[in-house]
Amino acid sequence: MNIILCDNYDDASQKAYKLLLEELKRNSSAVLGLPTGSTPLGLYKFMTDGFSEGDFSYEDIVTFNLDEYAGLSRDDPNSYFKFMMDNLFRALDVKIENINIPSGLGELEENCRIYDKKLEEAGGIDIQILGIGRNGHIGFNEPGTPFELTTHIAELSTHTREDNSRFFTSLDEVPTKAVTLGVKSIMNARKIILIAVGNEKADALYNTIHGPVTLDCPSSILQMHPDITLFLDGAAGSRL
Ligand code: GLP
Repeated sequence: MNIILCDNYDDASQKAYKLLLEELKRNSSAVLGLPTGSTPLGLYKFMTDGFSEGDFSYEDIVTFNLDEYAGLSRDDPNSYFKFMMDNLFRALDVKIENINIPSGLGELEENCRIYDKKLEEAGGIDIQILGIGRNGHIGFNEPGTPFELTTHIAELSTHTREDNSRFFTSLDEVPTKAVTLGVKSIMNARKIILIAVGNEKADALYNTIHGPVTLDCPSSILQMHPDITLFLDGAAGSRL
């Protein structure tokens, strides 16, 4: 694991962008795995600003998002589809047909199989960007989720629903399920870039890097990945 301690959130986002851009310039038709949450917003701003300044064209890039809430339509204010359109895709030249986000509506099992098939046809993920939950979840792979799963339906823990309730008007409105790429799909990515900031992530980062590889902390499996770089601020890295 390549661990980069950064001065602050902006520095972590900028350094992550620099590494991502190097990789994209090497492979302008890369398959990019993307997360939601507050953490990637800094990176997404560097990507959109960089695009405006002519850093890179995303016209041949293919994207696969990690997850989507079950029961929310694409235009729901809290859907990850809307989040991605508002915070990234609308400001880039990525082709709409190259954007893949699991559907949280309809027959969810079937949606999972369709998503796996699309990812396989695209040749898998070249560069996976990750955030991390307080309990070490990646995507929506909560503690206890078998490492060998690909796209599946996840039951969200109370912990995760509480953390994400800040985007909703009440905890009751936070969906209890989601469709998520599995740990296996994430581990199959050729390169992983993880960003984590803030005190509340310090335990998860300690367990990710120094803990045993255990289902209790899904992100601990990342120790086994051959090419992962973690960009942390001092608070997230405070227990290392
Ligand atoms: C959600 C997402 C994860 C993300 C996590 C942390 O649960 N499914 O992909 O890493 O939130 O979010 P934040 O970056 O807001 O702390």
